[in-house]
Amino acid sequence: MELPFAENYKIKMVETIKRSTREEREQWIKDAKYNLFNLKSNQVFIDLLTDSGTGAMSDKQWSELMLGDESYAGASSYYKMKDAITNILGFEYFLPTHQGRAAENVLFSTLVKQGDIVPGNSHFDTTKGHIEFRKATAIDCTINEAFDTENTHPFKGNVDLNKLEKVINEHGADKIPFIIITVTNNTAGGQPVSMQNLRDVKKLADKYTIPVLYDSARFAENAYFIKTRETGYADKSIKEIVREMYTYADMMTMSSKKDAIVNMGGFIAMKDKTLFEKASMFNIVFEGFITYGGMSGRDMNALAQGLKEATEFEYLETRIKQVEYLGKQLIDYGIPVQHPIGGHAVFINALKFLPNVPRNEFPAQTLAIELYKEAGVRGVEIGAIMADRDPVTRENRYPDLELVRLAIPRRTYTNNHMDYVAAALINVFDRRNAIKSGYKIIKEAEVLRHFTVELEQL
Ligand code: F0G
Repeated sequence: MELPFAENYKIKMVETIKRSTREEREQWIKDAKYNLFNLKSNQVFIDLLTDSGTGAMSDKQWSELMLGDESYAGASSYYKMKDAITNILGFEYFLPTHQGRAAENVLFSTLVKQGDIVPGNSHFDTTKGHIEFRKATAIDCTINEAFDTENTHPFKGNVDLNKLEKVINEHGADKIPFIIITVTNNTAGGQPVSMQNLRDVKKLADKYTIPVLYDSARFAENAYFIKTRETGYADKSIKEIVREMYTYADMMTMSSKKDAIVNMGGFIAMKDKTLFEKASMFNIVFEGFITYGGMSGRDMNALAQGLKEATEFEYLETRIKQVEYLGKQLIDYGIPVQHPIGGHAVFINALKFLPNVPRNEFPAQTLAIELYKEAGVRGVEIGAIMADRDPVTRENRYPDLELVRLAIPRRTYTNNHMDYVAAALINVFDRRNAIKSGYKIIKEAEVLRHFTVELEQL
């Protein structure tokens, strides 16, 4: 008999989670103004809201916490983090920040000004928020294949080089402070970017002397897909692939809450000393002195250890196979999801799942609420609510995809939990035709409204 796949870890500590009744959940979500971010965590049984900061640290990471050096300046923890960044990612200069969006804030304060254009592949919402907040414009140049959920292109996170060059020619290179590549492309479904594409974007950027920035939250998962899908990389180690990826980047921002497997943390890394010096000033103003930048010494230690673990093939294989395990069950039942299954999450196509709910009644949010009511599973809307209004016209923006994301925290749930989630979604799918209306917004913030939006059931 062929041996089945099994996780490359065993469990040393557990946390109890609580089941609830449908009646309780109906009341709780109503009290939460139908915003899943407003729920208390103990009102959720399986929490797939995000894979950010929600993973389980290893025994080695926990022991690193005890070795943290909390000195204000020059802590050994800073140097531990610096070594990990230099050895694994190849950058000489770096600044710690308290999380990914803080890295964006510091770096964009240095580089982005009013009227600038920042092309990229489906900018994450905080990234876009930090661009638009500076009255600059983010332009999505992701390949068209990414917007067809049935298409099985192996690298749906890729940048379309023609779209990119058109943007450069239309606006002029001097208006473009950098090109941003998100690895993996979260918004398009946790989809990877190929090494070839990274190489090609760098070549094009060099032609116009534009720097390249990687938004690197899930860089290791991206490397796993390069190894398993791209010709010429099967025999290379994840660490070798990561090193090559970053030879095509000038700088990076990192939310360490994902592929560094810590609960909180981030950083900026760059090759250019002058940029490091300019960004240092903003880091001191916004985050803290340059050798801690919003992080405790213990957290910098755990982060350094996390970077090493996340770039091991066995770790990544365990992680990504669990996401696939859930995705496959949904696909086998005919539930419309983004193909192929992404690195950190399964993305459900809400327009196909709930065709009777009009777009202006937010089908993805409606589906996320139905799934919560059904089984206490919390996912997140990646659709028109998250897309915010157009900053100029103030009209709702309707993105090409209207998705519910079920993000799987790292090393946290078992495959029994995945079976439970699949069954819950199947139950909602079986009664999908009876769901004919959604929600209307009664209160919203100007940017990043999905975090605090209040809704009313129609
Ligand atoms: N970039 C990407 C691609 C992200 O996915 C995130 C966060 C950030 C930047 C910002 O990092 O949260 O540390 O400030 N994504 C989380 C998510 C919130 O649920 O996907 P942060």
